[in-house]
Amino acid sequence: MANRGDIFETGEIFRDRQLVRVGHVPDLDRVVGRDDEIDAIGSALAPAVRGGPPETTIIYGKTGTGKSLVARCVTREAKHRSAENGHIFAYAYVDCSDYGTETQASRQMARELQTGLDGTVEERSIPRKGISAADYRDITWELLAEGDVQSFVVVLDEVDKLDGDDLLRSLSRARESGKVEALIGAICISNKIEYRDRLSERVDSSLQDNELVFDPYDATQLEAILSRRRDAFVDDVLDDGVIPKTAALAAREHGDARKAIDMLYEAGRLAEKERANRVTETHVDAAVERAEINRFQKLISGQTPHVKHILRALALLTEQTDRRNFRTAEVYDAYQRIADQVDANPLSYDRVQRLLREQAFLGVTESEHTGGGHGEGSYRVHRLLRSPEVVTKGLDDH
Ligand SMILES: Nc1ncnc2c1ncn2[C@@H]1O[C@H](COP(=O)(O)OP(=O)(O)OP(=O)(O)O)[C@@H](O)[C@H]1O
Ligand SMILES: [Mg+2]
Repeated sequence: MANRGDIFETGEIFRDRQLVRVGHVPDLDRVVGRDDEIDAIGSALAPAVRGGPPETTIIYGKTGTGKSLVARCVTREAKHRSAENGHIFAYAYVDCSDYGTETQASRQMARELQTGLDGTVEERSIPRKGISAADYRDITWELLAEGDVQSFVVVLDEVDKLDGDDLLRSLSRARESGKVEALIGAICISNKIEYRDRLSERVDSSLQDNELVFDPYDATQLEAILSRRRDAFVDDVLDDGVIPKTAALAAREHGDARKAIDMLYEAGRLAEKERANRVTETHVDAAVERAEINRFQKLISGQTPHVKHILRALALLTEQTDRRNFRTAEVYDAYQRIADQVDANPLSYDRVQRLLREQAFLGVTESEHTGGGHGEGSYRVHRLLRSPEVVTKGLDDH
């Protein structure tokens, strides 16, 4: 048998790739650049840590700004601190994008609470179905009583995905309705700022103690976040410029920590694939391009081969000239040549014109009407919204 080497060899880049994988929830001491937000949630939960009422907090902010992370870390910390103080604090984390109906969310709240009370209440099975959202909430109240819980905080993540208001309402009223002894609070999280008005209509003022907005991270914060994950890599394999560069690019484009971490991971993976022994800034550039190609491919997936020939025609024209805008007729000529090369029957001019309009509508290209020069009529020009390299590579391995 031919010696094919170790097919599972991974190279010498990563030590603990888990640290740079999406979904990894770091400890509070790896959370950087969010001190004010951590303090604010800390103050909201401070009374609860001493057996008092937790204040409710609503968190807004764009995707990847640390909302879920900070909410989880701080509630977990509050539980530890309460225990040290001799108080019983419990929390339930419910991601409404996974549990979007009132019934699912209420059930998940009960289950999370039960897991958190772990052993201090009698084991019971929470039915999977056949009972109502209100029944699940009653189970929650029973668990709170059985566990002698003094303060209870429910984190409703992606709360805009929740299909009703009953859960929120019952959380704010459970105590006054005499159903529970425990003091209840909520942390509601949404990445849709537009949701703010909807939420204030949906819940009464008792649920609106604090509002917190998480801003996108700047380059310094992203650099700190990425530096804390440096131990994902083998010592000294990262070139000095890699983390600052990744942070700067990510800050300029979105300020999203998740995407920044992902970019660093991708750079490492590309280095690994090449069997390089260092990760360089060139790998970061390649990772950025790879991400753009992936997004482009997602955008054009499901399009017909002819649409792809049209896009390739635009990419070729852009590469071969120093212009970005091309008239419909130019695109059509280039498209015809490509169709000929692959032995496809070219579509009519009108059809191509319509497909171009459709691509502009889908955000793949852009087009505009231009008044021609002296004596010329007006005409339409088209351009790609991405670099021709990204488009060509995206089309090539599609
Ligand atoms: N301040 C931070 N320190 C360390 N890591 C962070 C920080 N902020 C975010 N991260 C990393 O980025 C990931 C995404 O953050 P998080 O899930 O909290 O975003 P989010 O604001 O909830 O976004 P979404 O609105 O998409 O849910 C986290 O899992 C974590 O790995
Ligand atoms: Mg989140």
